Amino acid sequence: MKMFVVFVILLHVSQHASAVERYEGDSFILPCQFDIFDLRNPTVVWSRADLSPPTVHQYQQEGDELKDQNQRYSGRTSMKTDALETGDLSLNLTNLQLSDSATYTCSVRSIRGERKVKDVQLQVKERFPPWAKALLVLLVLLVVSGGLLFHFRHYFMSGYKVEVDSGVESVQLPSNTTVCLPKNAKVEWTDKNKRKVHAYQNGSDQNEEQHQVYRDRTKMKGNLLKPGDLSLTLKYPTDEDRGTYTCTV
Ligand SMILES: *[C@@H]1O[C@H](CO)[C@@H](O)[C@H](O)[C@H]1NC(C)=O
Repeated sequence: MKMFVVFVILLHVSQHASAVERYEGDSFILPCQFDIFDLRNPTVVWSRADLSPPTVHQYQQEGDELKDQNQRYSGRTSMKTDALETGDLSLNLTNLQLSDSATYTCSVRSIRGERKVKDVQLQVKERFPPWAKALLVLLVLLVVSGGLLFHFRHYFMSGYKVEVDSGVESVQLPSNTTVCLPKNAKVEWTDKNKRKVHAYQNGSDQNEEQHQVYRDRTKMKGNLLKPGDLSLTLKYPTDEDRGTYTCTV
């Protein structure tokens, strides 16, 4: 059992160490160090054997030599200007693409021939894997549609349910309009038996039309010029007032 655990840990560690992983758009320094002081007129070549032309970057005494560079890497590579003095032949690769995933070879060419210094394996991953993108799109859609539903809820919701305990002093029956109504509009509240609960027109309550059950028990905000304010207050609600009230304009 102990052996197995150790094995699993080793496997874990080695998997992480084997290849360098970076994300799309990042930049990455491909490391390479080589003692070239004793070489005359050396040329440093970074290449990818699986490409044609294979050259990713080339550097020599005079500086960058990019006429053979594979155009995929055009403008995305740089080496330190003192590379040949310090022996730090690292390649700075910017704006990583998924297609940059490969094995890169750092080699040094001189009159004596070419010498491979190092292979560097690079794995470029999508910053957001496809499932994360799908999830994000879904989330955005949900939020947007939720927001739209909330914003236009009055168009979908034609009724309200209001519950109060018996004995409360008053209850407000909400009614929302989303537009301003003309001054002479008539607003009528009726109950389940089509009895007139409250009528309002021309800036005043029309009490003579009201059913006697509701006498002195109703009050409307009655501001027609303000959207959403046709709510009716019903005083001393009882069990008999249970039912559906309709606001008509
Ligand atoms: C790599 O090159 C980019 C672009 O020139 C630069 O912004 C970045 O600082 C370089 N990275 C390093 C570690 O030098």
